[in-house]
Amino acid sequence: MATPAGTDYPWREPSKLVARGAFIVIEGLDRAGKTTQVKKLCDALYDAGHNIQTIRFPDRTTPIGKMIDSYLQSKTEMDDHAIHLLFSANRWEKSKWIKETIAKGYTIVCDRYYYSGMIYSAAKQNPELSLKWAKSPDIGLPRPDAVIFLNLDPEEAEKRGGYGTEKYERKEMQQRVRQLFLDMEYVRHDEAIDMIVIDAGKSVQQVADSIYSEAAITVDAAEGGKARGPLGVVRDWPEGTVDRVPEVRRKTENGELIVERHLRESIRKGHTEYNPGTGEWLVKPWLCD
Ligand SMILES: Nc1ncnc2c1ncn2[C@@H]1O[C@H](COP(=O)(O)OP(=O)(O)OP(=O)(O)O)[C@@H](O)[C@H]1O
Ligand SMILES: [Mg+2]
Repeated sequence: MATPAGTDYPWREPSKLVARGAFIVIEGLDRAGKTTQVKKLCDALYDAGHNIQTIRFPDRTTPIGKMIDSYLQSKTEMDDHAIHLLFSANRWEKSKWIKETIAKGYTIVCDRYYYSGMIYSAAKQNPELSLKWAKSPDIGLPRPDAVIFLNLDPEEAEKRGGYGTEKYERKEMQQRVRQLFLDMEYVRHDEAIDMIVIDAGKSVQQVADSIYSEAAITVDAAEGGKARGPLGVVRDWPEGTVDRVPEVRRKTENGELIVERHLRESIRKGHTEYNPGTGEWLVKPWLCD
């Protein structure tokens, strides 16, 4: 396969059969360490023999990205809905590339994605712009296999060189953004499965190690053909699920309680699947290690 122009990580023939690459997103508040960690994760995965591509949103290089850039720098005023749709369109511009790249066997590590998209818009507290509305233009985009949220107190984030002058870099806004992210883990549908919260207050290397151990599970599942089959699709929240904590606790035959964390782990490995129609979890024990 040809090496894509400009990549830091030239393609190498894998030593074993790869079903597909994984799609991993790094999310977090401003200054949480996303860009630092995307680079470290890419380097570590590449050193471990995986093929890697990296992208970031917003992609300010496209015509839509340039409009977003101008808005973020307060050079242009825009209606909250209009700018929201531009952010979403900026992701749609890359949708086909993401699918093709994953299918070729590359793992993509992505700096921000639709979580930032819906959460930053919803955090503006515009009564005419709900979280559910904010998610809607992203429905149909490639669904990440894992979303790693770098959890950091905005006070701590501010100490890392302080916020800049861009539109969303105010502490109250960041507090709301952080809360909406943390809500995802507990009360949202697919997002409760996909999102992994990591303490981003530790040293760069400690954070990198935590991310790597989570990402390695996801990449192995995708490459080994165990993940949710082909790359998933971002889905709407079914009626009633948005504000309901998913039932992810169950008892085994000998009465042992499987807590959410374990179940999520098995979902990520492709051993368990949620059926939104019946609201039940289908465990596939024949796939379990
Ligand atoms: N674990 C850490 N501990 C202390 N400082 C850190 C840590 N991780 C990153 N930093 C520093 O914090 C600053 C912001 O890091 P980085 O640019 O990676 O964050 P980001 O989430 O990509 O920010 P932005 O949202 O502005 O793009 C940098 O100066 C970086 O060196
Ligand atoms: Mg960054």
